[in-house]
Amino acid sequence: MAIRESAQGPEAHPPLPGPKAEGGDEHTRPRARRLEADEAERLAPALALAFRDNPLNRAVIRGTAAQRLRSNRFGMAATLAATRGRATILVPAREAAELSGPDLGGLIAIAPGAWPLPPPPFLAQIEFWLGQGLRISYRWGRVWTELADLHLLEPHWYLEMLGVVPGARGNGVGSSLLETWLEEVDRDRVPAYLETDRRENLDFYARHDFEVLSCHTLCGIPVWRMLRPASIF
Ligand SMILES: CC(C)(COP(=O)(O)OP(=O)(O)OC[C@H]1O[C@@H](n2cnc3c(N)ncnc32)[C@H](O)[C@@H]1OP(=O)(O)O)[C@@H](O)C(=O)NCCC(=O)NCCS
Repeated sequence: MAIRESAQGPEAHPPLPGPKAEGGDEHTRPRARRLEADEAERLAPALALAFRDNPLNRAVIRGTAAQRLRSNRFGMAATLAATRGRATILVPAREAAELSGPDLGGLIAIAPGAWPLPPPPFLAQIEFWLGQGLRISYRWGRVWTELADLHLLEPHWYLEMLGVVPGARGNGVGSSLLETWLEEVDRDRVPAYLETDRRENLDFYARHDFEVLSCHTLCGIPVWRMLRPASIF
């Protein structure tokens, strides 16, 4: 596993050669595949790194980059324990240099009617509380409660998480994960719903037909709720 645990920021990995760099278009973009049973231990640190510098992460954890990465690992392990077998979990179908598949990031989405998922297994919860510390767990709990109160009521697919490690961004990896999932969403002909705390993501999601529903301040950070209307075709 090649994710480095440094606090070097987005330069932690050299940019990957990608389809855009090679002149590829959406038809030649790498696609996504489902997470294999033995790959969660690789996906958790990749997602921890992907979200390390997000505004809400900084506001809730309040530590150094290394502390946020460590804290996130417990959060991502608990999230994967709660979602595996109950959610769609996709990883890039890509091999590149020292990183491949779940080392690059992934997508977790919950099918219509399945949200909210039951809590993670008790052992995973204990590891989460001890690993993150009670104050951080408390602050995350408040954020999740507020988001749950705002959650869409009509049947929908929910994008729980989409993350790509910093050094692999801008190569179409995130889009290919999103597009693969949206094909499943469109087959079900329901809306897709998500929340995001990065303003830069609004254009990224708008290119995939998401619209801003509302913006809320959580833990001092703006968080946007976005909806993609159901496909009619
Ligand atoms: C959002 C995210 C998954 C996109 O992944 P990605 O692999 O860079 O996605 P793509 O390469 O398909 O598209 C990236 C687009 O976003 C833009 N972008 C936004 N932030 C970027 C960043 N930090 N690095 C590179 N591109 C970025 C690029 O300009 C690109 O636009 P283009 O398609 O017009 O060239 C990734 O930036 C990420 O993991 N962010 C942190 C976690 C997060 O906020 N997730 C979403 C929460 S809902």
